Amino acid sequence: MAQAPVQVDPIRAEFEERFAGSRALHERARTVVPGGITHDGRHLKPFPVYVDRAEGAHKWDVDGHDLIDFAIGHGSLLFGHNDPEIAAAVAAQLGRGTHYGAGHEGEIAWAEQIRKLVPSAEQVKFTASGTESTMLAVRLARAATGRTTVIKFEGHFHGWNDYLLKSEKPPFADGRVAGIPDAVLDTVAVLPANDPELLAERLAVGDVAAVILEPSGGSWAKVPLADGFLAQVRELTSAHDAVLIFDEVITGFRWSPGGAQQREGVVPDLTTMAKVVAGGLPGGAVGGRLEIMQLLAFKDDPAWNASKKVRHPGTYNANPLSAAAGVTCLRRCADPSVQAGCDALAARVRVGLNTVLERRGVPGFCWGDSSVFHVALGETCANRTAGDLRAPEGVSQQTLKGTGSSALTGPLVQGMLLEGVDLFNSGGLLSTAHTAADVDHTIAAFDRVLGRMEDEGLFR
Ligand SMILES: Cc1ncc(COP(=O)(O)O)c(C=O)c1O
Repeated sequence: MAQAPVQVDPIRAEFEERFAGSRALHERARTVVPGGITHDGRHLKPFPVYVDRAEGAHKWDVDGHDLIDFAIGHGSLLFGHNDPEIAAAVAAQLGRGTHYGAGHEGEIAWAEQIRKLVPSAEQVKFTASGTESTMLAVRLARAATGRTTVIKFEGHFHGWNDYLLKSEKPPFADGRVAGIPDAVLDTVAVLPANDPELLAERLAVGDVAAVILEPSGGSWAKVPLADGFLAQVRELTSAHDAVLIFDEVITGFRWSPGGAQQREGVVPDLTTMAKVVAGGLPGGAVGGRLEIMQLLAFKDDPAWNASKKVRHPGTYNANPLSAAAGVTCLRRCADPSVQAGCDALAARVRVGLNTVLERRGVPGFCWGDSSVFHVALGETCANRTAGDLRAPEGVSQQTLKGTGSSALTGPLVQGMLLEGVDLFNSGGLLSTAHTAADVDHTIAAFDRVLGRMEDEGLFR
């Protein structure tokens, strides 16, 4: 019997052909790096793209493609790649040493900048990443309250430390994570967001040290919070003496100069930061109320130091290079026109992509907040015609969170790469280096890719 012809997906076939250099590097990588990738978020079939250099809002892959970069350092490069002022500050520091194994003025200036900008940050302690920041914040909250349980919300991402990975991805009800003991996971209670009654009920048990959340809603505004929910959480945590932690790793200095807390007018007890805080270099920070932060300071009391002080070493905490980048970056973040410009560009993306979807009658929608956007294909929300969407209507939280893994994501992402656009988790983050022309190219590219996907029958 004659064999049925193998169906070749034309978008994927063209991607494989034109990005052959990336395929070769991926094959080489797979022999020495598990799966060939160094961050789970870079998993892309048939292979991810390997980059050779970057400048401004663009990066060039090993096959020479010029790509508009919506990953922009996983959101850390608010001023784009190789911002001249940040690069100069880092270069100047390089010539003066990269690690003193001692305090230096840069770390003080860095902490002063954070305190100036972030309403909750009476004092600041530096870490090497966002994951370390959330881990330290949880430890501080437990020490401050003498309680164990941490409440987090379904779909909220707080890095990969053992305490906070639970129920980050659907199905939320199954919170088990390979390699993390149940005894650890059992110290974390996961609730759906936007349900203040349920939160009040759980807090009333009396064992809660902290409530941690992404103030944008889960995964940088992918799963939006209801209006007023942040203020309700603030009120409830205060009433039950639980520490409120805002994870501002993404929103910090991006949602406003003082992050989401400044924009929303809700001040947490502790704030975790990374990404923009370190100007695109590795680094993180925890800022917060003096009395909690003072648990990190040694006292003239050996017994207290031995049993009550919260321990926090870390070889790369506030290293001079990250401090130089961070100070330079934050000085510029203080100007609200920085965030306003990025927000306007992201709104242009959101409106543009929804307009294309609407005109083509293709199921999908684009949404987001501040300077970020997400794209979902395969179903349509009830309010797509509004153009600039923060909260898609008629779509479940589980669906919103899972959008990046739909079967249509691969063709979309590969199709956009063929058009010179690198999306990030089927969305993106804007920087001051992006231009209106970059955005308009992206919208036109999206239109062409949807056309190809329609021709391939992918929406049937
Ligand atoms: C909200 C949030 N918290 C924590 C983290 C973890 O930060 P890092 O990757 O620096 O460990 C991330 C990373 O994307 C994040 O988005």
